[in-house]
Amino acid sequence: MRQLKYDEVTGMWFRRMLLEEWFDKYQYEIRYNVGESAVHCLTFADIDIDLRHVSLRYGYHAGKPELREMIADQYEGLSSEHVVVTNGGSEALFSVAVCLLKPGDHVIVEHPNYPSNYEVLRSLGCKVDLLHLEFENDFQLDLNELKALMTPQTKLVCLTHPNNPTGSMISEKTLEEIVDLIESRGCFMVFDETYRELAFGHKLPTAASVSSKAVSISTMSKSYGLPGIRIGWIATKDKFILESVLAIREQVTICNSAISEVIALSVLERKDEFLENVRRHVERNSQTVVSWMENQKELEWKRPEAGVICFPRIKLDVFLNPENLYQLLVEKYKTFVIPGRCFEMDNRHFRLGYGGMPRELEVGLKNIGKALKEVVDSTSF
Ligand SMILES: Cc1ncc(COP(=O)(O)O)c(C=O)c1O
Repeated sequence: MRQLKYDEVTGMWFRRMLLEEWFDKYQYEIRYNVGESAVHCLTFADIDIDLRHVSLRYGYHAGKPELREMIADQYEGLSSEHVVVTNGGSEALFSVAVCLLKPGDHVIVEHPNYPSNYEVLRSLGCKVDLLHLEFENDFQLDLNELKALMTPQTKLVCLTHPNNPTGSMISEKTLEEIVDLIESRGCFMVFDETYRELAFGHKLPTAASVSSKAVSISTMSKSYGLPGIRIGWIATKDKFILESVLAIREQVTICNSAISEVIALSVLERKDEFLENVRRHVERNSQTVVSWMENQKELEWKRPEAGVICFPRIKLDVFLNPENLYQLLVEKYKTFVIPGRCFEMDNRHFRLGYGGMPRELEVGLKNIGKALKEVVDSTSF
């Protein structure tokens, strides 16, 4: 039987991600980035690290042993042998999907989500069902909906909590119920824990600690403000997955950047200090967003429970073309939010990121208000 390519128009197995295209086009053109999903990025000066001694040779394929140990410390019951350090969370998501799935496999992916969570699976030719988080349900995961989507053929469930782009979060009890469900059905779960450290309240236990059928994915990119070092990881008790991931990466990246691993290690050694600063910063910025939202009569939202992102919506009775707003923002106001369409959502939603510097956030929010007024006024005539 002829295998269909994922994208019959371009003939490519993979297609470009709308979200990343939007970033690639505008992120260096704008001045006020209020769409970003990371806390403001650190510099060498912030980290204060001397790299002159770093040997620029190939690294261990599973990652620098001290770094793996440091990461494993966050996972109860796991040790360094249960961790593979990857080139960002992206490589982690990609390689776990490739090692677990084949064309035709049934998978369930929470939606909205960071698009790699479903795009890779679609590209592999899997049958992907989306588990929708609805605005009307406070973007909460509906366990009954998850149960209804599961079939005897379901191989994998992919969840992201705290969620990108909504900032919603499941409870520990729901996580336990989901674990019971996937274990009883004999399938795997990929749990993207990118924002775990940025929960406003109690943080969730790591999924890989709770179940041997769970794979935890995380990264230095968001909570630590280090997307440029491209360091993420996979943690799981499943030895087959860990070994398969090495087989995949040996064809693609072989190992991580030696410099990046040393930077990640140095920051994780001072994790509490870095995260304390980040949490203080996020707390302040989130107050700014809450106050701003209170005065936006054209917008509605669900207050995020974690992270540095939320997903407001232009009210349904406001007459405008949302795309005009986003274009005006980048072109005239040099201000960047992420249109909902980049997450395959109603374009009235947009991702608002409040991890940046306070001044950048304040001006960015003001600009959204100005642009919104301009688009609404020009639409009503
Ligand atoms: C939830 C989530 N997972 C994974 C990634 C990929 O992160 P990385 O930059 O580490 O590849 C992102 C990036 O935005 C994300 O938001």
